[in-house]
Amino acid sequence: MINKVYINGDIYDANDAKVSIFDRGYLFSDGVYELIPYFDSKPFLMEEHYLRLQRSLEMIELENPYNKDKWFANIEKLLKSCHFENYYLYIQVTRGMPRNFDDNILREHAATKDYQTCISMFYSKINSLKNKKTLSTKAITMEDKRWMQCDIKSVSLLYNSYAKTIAHKKGAYEAILVRDGYVTEGCSSNVFVIKDNIIYTSPESNLILPGVTRLFVINDVIKDNGYNIRFESFSEDEMLNADEIFITNSTQGILPITHVNDKLVKNNNNSKISQKLQEIFISKIS
Ligand code: PDD
Repeated sequence: MINKVYINGDIYDANDAKVSIFDRGYLFSDGVYELIPYFDSKPFLMEEHYLRLQRSLEMIELENPYNKDKWFANIEKLLKSCHFENYYLYIQVTRGMPRNFDDNILREHAATKDYQTCISMFYSKINSLKNKKTLSTKAITMEDKRWMQCDIKSVSLLYNSYAKTIAHKKGAYEAILVRDGYVTEGCSSNVFVIKDNIIYTSPESNLILPGVTRLFVINDVIKDNGYNIRFESFSEDEMLNADEIFITNSTQGILPITHVNDKLVKNNNNSKISQKLQEIFISKIS
């Protein structure tokens, strides 16, 4: 079975889905995206993802091409062909290509023309988070060399994918990024550490993506269950000396980190709080 893809109102087989090379998303990374997980065929935190998409669009001054009803109707149209139980829906909105090329200018940095916004969506299978027993999840640290607006869910993921490739080559799942000595986030995740039973995570700022899973974990998993959380930046050294480390994102939920730069996290064999939070998270998505 070939997955289907949505482009500007039409549904295609994944093999036949095409967009123009003159699309500003392709030429300049001029676009934003969202990724919404579906567990047991149900969307998880759809409203929050939609709000973040709206916010990202506003931040790059790109008008939302659809109203909410139209978004949801089109998502349903695409997902009719999806038979997976656990998957994510990927949505990308780029400024698109010029409506006409009469002036023969095919590429210009300044977005001065009238553009046909390009909306594309596809879905992709993921593993169920239930019964997931990850014995060892390694991370490395790398310098955060990204731009200063990491709070936009931009399709420009050059450094994120570069750093994550280095991590994979070193046998690790994630590269945790460090700017000026302080941990910002993972290449595709937010980072939490636990020290003396207190959970720390970086405050929201332009240096991190406001993760939808992060906020759910803070409110519905950590606070609701009486754990202490502080919104404070922590240094790489503080992370390396933490009792526990875990990361969050839409496809993994909560993932305890067992090793950083090939060293065991201090309390790895006893990562009780992370594991408990992971259990609570999984019980909430079922
Ligand atoms: N990425 N930080 C970055 C840089 C991310 O790319 C992501 C998610 C997160 C976590 O956000 P959320 O909890 O909303 O998934 C934090 C997705 C999974 C991706 O690009 O595939």
